[in-house]
Amino acid sequence: MAEKKPIKITETILRDAHQSLIATRMSTEQMLPIVEKLDQVGYHSLECWGGATFDASLRFLKEDPWERLRKIRDKAKNTKLQMLFRGQNILGYNQYSDDVVEYFVQKSIANGIDIIRIFDCLNDVRNLQTAVTAANKEKGHAQVALSYTLGEAYTLDYWKNMAKQVEDMGANSLCIKDMAGLLLPYTATELVQALKETVNIPIQLHTHYTSGVASMTYLKAVEAGVDVIDTAMSPFALGTSQPATEVMVETFKGTPYDTGFDQKLLAEIADYFRPLRDEALDTGLLNPKNLGVNIKTLLYQVPGGMLSNLTSQLKDLHAEDKYYEVLEEVPRVRKDLGDCPLVTPSSQIVGTQAVMNVINGERYKMVPQQTKDVLSGKYGATVKPFNAEVQKKCIGDAEIITDRPANHIAPQLDKIKDECAKWTQQEEDVLSYALFPQVAVEFFKYREAQQTGVDANVADSKNGAYPV
Ligand code: CO
Repeated sequence: MAEKKPIKITETILRDAHQSLIATRMSTEQMLPIVEKLDQVGYHSLECWGGATFDASLRFLKEDPWERLRKIRDKAKNTKLQMLFRGQNILGYNQYSDDVVEYFVQKSIANGIDIIRIFDCLNDVRNLQTAVTAANKEKGHAQVALSYTLGEAYTLDYWKNMAKQVEDMGANSLCIKDMAGLLLPYTATELVQALKETVNIPIQLHTHYTSGVASMTYLKAVEAGVDVIDTAMSPFALGTSQPATEVMVETFKGTPYDTGFDQKLLAEIADYFRPLRDEALDTGLLNPKNLGVNIKTLLYQVPGGMLSNLTSQLKDLHAEDKYYEVLEEVPRVRKDLGDCPLVTPSSQIVGTQAVMNVINGERYKMVPQQTKDVLSGKYGATVKPFNAEVQKKCIGDAEIITDRPANHIAPQLDKIKDECAKWTQQEEDVLSYALFPQVAVEFFKYREAQQTGVDANVADSKNGAYPV
């Protein structure tokens, strides 16, 4: 038998799995009773924080995300905790100053995070450096993710070149982040082999089951030498989520890639989560549509979360009949915006613009500020140039930034600290406020009301559609 090389696994059930399937609504209370068991499995890491969980905790669950992290840390004594981090966008939708990025990284690690997966929605490596350097400084593991997408500019050489830059900037590992499930099995073989030849740091693969190929992609990637894969416990696997942990574990049993995980223990964990899945199906929080194979994702290269977001935007506008028109407009807008990857926040920006272009019957008649910001270089550089005509129509002769966008953002932290001083009960509150000022203040009011026993009306805002 070939030399043993057990495949390592990152469990996503506490972050991406519920973000992808139930709009990030799993609460801390639902997570905590099972963390000790998850901790016994032998995972490479537990992804449990970042991405949309921060926003959703504050906005919809009325929970302090920092407290969730500390409570999970307290129960996960052996396993590394992992988070997803949007580079210079942190966990928000705009660009932030370096001092806020650095402070956020510092506090994430201080509260229990071991591995920070950092990506940029345009794959502009200049937007990754501050977070990577900060993680290095705090002795955290900085993993940089390449936002995987398709298009003529995204050649094997493009990915190799980016991987080399990522290694050189001080990343401890590399992730291929395939948010839409576009990476096909045989392409995975080529990509993983090419990256393995290019860099020495470990390579992790993250994908979604949206297009139905994900477990085959993992199989080929593992055979090609990938070091870590991301999976979700079966009750919250498949569909727009990840391949099932138990299935991948069983697949590699008795091979050189054997994880050695205990299926009995995994079964106990699945037993815990299954009633939560059933409940989500009963209440409609989990839409069975999200569990099947969505071939449209391959046709339009749109991530699953973005598809459901478009559906709800059109529903609000009473324009559900425009769904296919919008889907066809998405790749055109993406092309105008330099063929960027579609991942938060670029996915929302492209999606919203596509909806407006179709609804108004004229392209770029209405242009949200964020589209203008992309076209003026405020999010960074794209692989291809912007459509010059569109750029002119949207921003006229406004100044265009060509260097690193955060070079143009003055330090924000001191001002933010002053602004929210009356609400803060812990240093971390400053960061919640920095990212989501209004939502954070509502949460702070709610928290105060809970503490003083006054019944707060703000609890009403617990329900509402969350854009994934
Ligand atoms: Co994901």
